[in-house]
Amino acid sequence: MKEYSLGTSREQVFGMFPERSIKKLQLGESQLAGVRIGEQIFVFQAFCPHRGAPLVQGNINGLGEIICALHEYRFDLATGEVRAGSCGDLKVYQTRIESDGLKIVIS
Ligand code: FES
Repeated sequence: MKEYSLGTSREQVFGMFPERSIKKLQLGESQLAGVRIGEQIFVFQAFCPHRGAPLVQGNINGLGEIICALHEYRFDLATGEVRAGSCGDLKVYQTRIESDGLKIVIS
């Protein structure tokens, strides 16, 4: 398990993640993606568990789900559970925003 830190303050983290805009993240060897909804940041695998489409091209709906752009499968951003479609769950990572930046745990 490894913990990564991004940014140096809450404000900087919020600036790095404009609301509902999916960002590509490279943490060590891991290609991930992240999105902020309100005060929460969700980090998940960069490519769809179905056929590997880049999830940075996906959309976020009002239910806290990401919708893959290729076949419109939906995944819960908090748990990674597949909500629509037939494939494995999305791998999601634990995050927290602290006064000195965003912490992401990669296990
Ligand atoms: S590749 Fe994402 S739903 Fe098919």
